[in-house]
Amino acid sequence: MDRYAAAHASRNGPGDARPSALQIVQDEYQHGNNHAAPLSKLTIVMTGATSGIGYETARALYSTGAKLFLTARDAAKSRRAIDRIVSSIPPVEGMRYQDIEVVHMDMDSLSSVRQAAGEVLGRTETINVLINNAGEDRLCYTQTALSPDDDFANTGIAGIPFGHTKDGLERNWGINYVAPFLLTHHLLPRLEASGSPSRRSRIVNLSTTGHRLFPTHLEEDPNFEKTPYEPMSAYATSKLAVIYHANYLDRHFSGRGIRAVSVHPGTIQTPMLDRYDALNSKPVDLPPGYAKELKSTEQGAATTVFAAIESCLEDKGGIYLENCTYGKEAAEDLGPMDGGYAAFAFDEEVEEGLWKDTCRLLGVPESL
Ligand SMILES: NC(=O)c1ccc[n+]([C@@H]2O[C@H](COP(=O)([O-])OP(=O)(O)OC[C@H]3O[C@@H](n4cnc5c(N)ncnc54)[C@H](OP(=O)(O)O)[C@@H]3O)[C@@H](O)[C@H]2O)c1
Repeated sequence: MDRYAAAHASRNGPGDARPSALQIVQDEYQHGNNHAAPLSKLTIVMTGATSGIGYETARALYSTGAKLFLTARDAAKSRRAIDRIVSSIPPVEGMRYQDIEVVHMDMDSLSSVRQAAGEVLGRTETINVLINNAGEDRLCYTQTALSPDDDFANTGIAGIPFGHTKDGLERNWGINYVAPFLLTHHLLPRLEASGSPSRRSRIVNLSTTGHRLFPTHLEEDPNFEKTPYEPMSAYATSKLAVIYHANYLDRHFSGRGIRAVSVHPGTIQTPMLDRYDALNSKPVDLPPGYAKELKSTEQGAATTVFAAIESCLEDKGGIYLENCTYGKEAAEDLGPMDGGYAAFAFDEEVEEGLWKDTCRLLGVPESL
């Protein structure tokens, strides 16, 4: 598990020694134990591959020869992304790359998610990996400090303006948490049926270190029905919920051939952050270490790819990964550039309650 510890020991900004997603694939081919269940035999479903981390994740996974089903809301954009992925991976002797398939899914709409799930199930008998990567991305500017002494307090924080999905859910909650929950729910039986003793199926939920910021909001008012909207709280709450979701899934399905993990990809200069910079017309006083901590998009996809294919994770789940290894529990006074998960991100009682509430909200069975 510590193969990449030295590469992360000192940070020097995008393109430094930290591995790219393609490097993870190469290393797994070289050192991994994939003989019984080769990567090229996997079928992988991923959301949000049209830009940023998802695009680089798809590119690296395509290079394994695996079959990819990518969900996207914009057909033209997804076609362009696939063309770029295919043309950027050079032919390798003996490797047969499989066609990438696109499934239309707008996570703004639960009926679109249901339809997409049905489409995926109709097109493939096997799903070995599900990566819930897509995240809401329309940013606005807020001056709310995260805590009185937070480094970010005077910089402004990115978040999305208040709004609702087609089903009346606050957008962070609906798009980042409820939609992936529904997609996962529909695909769970197929993931279960696709697991084998030599390779369990995997679910990878994209979270963020920001999940640590607003511990209580999820239990109080996750859909912002009673409290004034605060973008960062909404984003953090939705990303805390996806950790709870992964923890629940792993607890209940690890005995049934599925492991689930959450991933913090790092701080990456994706369109998400570019838009954030563009919105800040005044000079931004970034936290110390920000420039060095920043990863390239290729590096930002590494932990997701690690979570999806690394053979040393075969028996692991219900864990939070960052920098291609286990995240550590964070001390309470850590700053936004420090890694680690919050102690409250692992809470069986909350996870069980959230699962039940979300199933009720969606009208799907609690037991599968
Ligand atoms: N960048 C970071 O530093 C960072 C840090 C921590 C966690 N993350 C997480 O990593 C994941 C990927 O982020 P990113 O930085 O790569 O973002 P990004 O470049 O903005 O990509 C977001 C992806 O999600 C898709 N998406 C957004 N809203 C959607 C909707 N309503 N329906 C369907 N697809 C939708 C986008 O599709 P379109 O192309 O159609 O817009 C795009 O493919 C997110 O879950 C994010 O929260 C990112």
